[in-house]
Amino acid sequence: MSAQKSKAVFLKNYPKGMPEAGDFDTREIELAAPGEGEMLLRTVWMSVDPYMRGRMRPEVKSYIPPFSLDAPLEGGAVSEVVESNVAGFAPGDYVVDFSGGWKEYYLSKGERTQKVDPNLAPLSAYLGVLGMPGMTAWAGVTQILKPKEGETMFVSGAAGAVGSVVCQLGKAKGCRVIASAGSKAKCDWLEKEAGVDVALNYKDYKDARELTKALAAAAPKGVDCYFENVGGMHLEAALNCIGFGGRIALCGMIAVYNEQEPVPGPPNLVNLIGRGVMARGFIVSEFMDKAMEFAAEVAPLLAQGKIKFQESVYDGLDKAPDAFIGLFKGENMGKAVIRVGPDRLS
Ligand SMILES: NC(=O)c1ccc[n+]([C@@H]2O[C@H](COP(=O)([O-])OP(=O)(O)OC[C@H]3O[C@@H](n4cnc5c(N)ncnc54)[C@H](OP(=O)(O)O)[C@@H]3O)[C@@H](O)[C@H]2O)c1
Repeated sequence: MSAQKSKAVFLKNYPKGMPEAGDFDTREIELAAPGEGEMLLRTVWMSVDPYMRGRMRPEVKSYIPPFSLDAPLEGGAVSEVVESNVAGFAPGDYVVDFSGGWKEYYLSKGERTQKVDPNLAPLSAYLGVLGMPGMTAWAGVTQILKPKEGETMFVSGAAGAVGSVVCQLGKAKGCRVIASAGSKAKCDWLEKEAGVDVALNYKDYKDARELTKALAAAAPKGVDCYFENVGGMHLEAALNCIGFGGRIALCGMIAVYNEQEPVPGPPNLVNLIGRGVMARGFIVSEFMDKAMEFAAEVAPLLAQGKIKFQESVYDGLDKAPDAFIGLFKGENMGKAVIRVGPDRLS
């Protein structure tokens, strides 16, 4: 096969504060024909995720290197194999690949690539409930929070890709689940579809004191487990309501990702001591050796309708920057995904 043209999204400059459309640039690139040990992949669905904002801050040392300004951006994608010189991958196979995002076509050596079954679930679900966000939710709940039946779990960022799975795993484990999200529509979905006991619209509360009052009313026996996705007043309210022997899974703090100066921590961290609370940060990759356990627990819950999921679908690679920026404005309901091309070309 001859060289393949592809559209790809580049970062023009590292954003300052909230990212803007002008920070991104869509260009046409040309890929060489795949060599020995390489395959040509066509991106069908791509993911935008909050962690990508961290890769746009070269000044901050992180677990993952910053994006280069001279190469297409990368991220999770579901792709179709077009041409393959890699053993185990054939044209027509679908794969999840962690470099296929932000581009239409790309070459891969198949090193961070896993085949997926299009008959088990819609392809986009491999970027959400059955993919990295679902695995993150499962790891935080089962490996860190370890909730017991009858306990109370509080989840911030509850209507998003990770949070919505956390809430439903909490319910499946017999917890009282208190969720927090940023709109009435999100709270309605959480109560009516995801089955949480109380959903709080955090935008109704002007500060941590008000959120604490609402959380304390919803969790009269205190909070046993807190799944942290947001930071700021959510962490402060959770620390006010956490009970003795409580556990906190520190998964993300999206409220501070666009801040340009370090943000002070909550003033009530001291509660961790007197209440014997365990707070543990984690990155999902730490638990990847347990991916089979995750699939064995979550795939049946999904098939039985005990885990429901929502997607915000953006059409076309050109919409990827908007979808990414939308994460920081609460525009997505559930997982934000971009349909880059049709499932099959013919
Ligand atoms: N540790 C790990 O390995 C790992 C892996 C994946 C994700 N994460 C973290 O998990 C969290 C959720 O990620 P996700 O992929 O599931 O994203 P998501 O929740 O699907 O999307 C982001 C959501 O965050 C909320 N948000 C944005 N800015 C906010 C603010 N200033 N205050 C409160 N809420 C805000 C918005 O919902 P509202 O409308 O409710 O505001 C938005 O829809 C993020 O913090 C992410 O970094 C961590």
